Amino acid sequence: MKKIFPIVSAIAMTVFTHTAIANDCDKGERVVKLSHVTGGTTHPKVVASNNFAARVNKELNGIMCVEVYPNSTLFGDSKELEALLLGDVQLLAPSLSKFGSYTKKLGVFDLPFIFKDMDAGMRFTNSKVGKDLLNSMDKVGFVGLGYWMSGMKYFSANKPLLVPSDAKGLKFRVQTSDVAKAMIAAMGASPQPMAFAEVYGALQTKVVDGQENTWSNIYTKKFFEVQDGVTETNHQMLAYLFMTSKEFLDSLKPDVRAKFLKIADEVTQEANNSVKAAEAENRANILKAGGKIRTLNNEQRKAWIDAMKPVWKQFEDEIGKDVIEAAAKS
Ligand code: LMR
Repeated sequence: MKKIFPIVSAIAMTVFTHTAIANDCDKGERVVKLSHVTGGTTHPKVVASNNFAARVNKELNGIMCVEVYPNSTLFGDSKELEALLLGDVQLLAPSLSKFGSYTKKLGVFDLPFIFKDMDAGMRFTNSKVGKDLLNSMDKVGFVGLGYWMSGMKYFSANKPLLVPSDAKGLKFRVQTSDVAKAMIAAMGASPQPMAFAEVYGALQTKVVDGQENTWSNIYTKKFFEVQDGVTETNHQMLAYLFMTSKEFLDSLKPDVRAKFLKIADEVTQEANNSVKAAEAENRANILKAGGKIRTLNNEQRKAWIDAMKPVWKQFEDEIGKDVIEAAAKS
């Protein structure tokens, strides 16, 4: 069984525990690799991944042992989904924006201003339409174990951004999502798809001028250090698909599979219950570290909504009007 070293942050102590996992499985245990791209100790995906590993390693001790590889150390954005299908990794939690080559349906999560806040996003993921999307790639061999919420997204740039016209002519790093690309184009800026591991360097060397992400990513990857400031646009929600492959799941004995799925479910619920606290902690961490955060007044917010809303129509056919309506209703 793997050792677990708890690192408890003062602010989050009452809400969730941060753990770091040392990868040291015992002989005879089935080693299960969980790879992801985020880092730090306060990031919701880091916490959820480590909690999942801790639970499996305790409750399936001697049978299964989860090793966690954060920070793109095993696989980064470009290779991880392929690696899952090849059996080189068994668990991932990619952003829902990274599945464009496998399904267009998940593009609904990238539509700007479709979710007012994370509660609205969670109402959608808990709805029938949202739950069905978990299995939108079963023909490919991907199994969605649950949605892990991460946070709302905010723009940062190397100049102040208060209205969309401030972004005109700038280059923004985006994930590999056609919806995100269209959204940046709607601001009069140019989208630059790029792996998450490369973003800090690209901002620092001015290969790109800005990016969009959650407080947890902006803090743990130190993007705020190489940007003029972050604007509280709340324009999208970032969430992850905690996932495995059908091949891996089918290979488990029924009793082991049942325990594994139960733990996945419970860890997912726990992660989603503590995500708002993690985001608030990392927002405060940015300010404490000297980062600048700009808020918008109602008029400025309306200008962002007006600029980006036409993107919905552009993707109606490939995402599905019914799916967009269900998400917007939530
Ligand atoms: C990004 O690429 O910006 C994020 O999806 C990274 C992550 O997994 O939070």
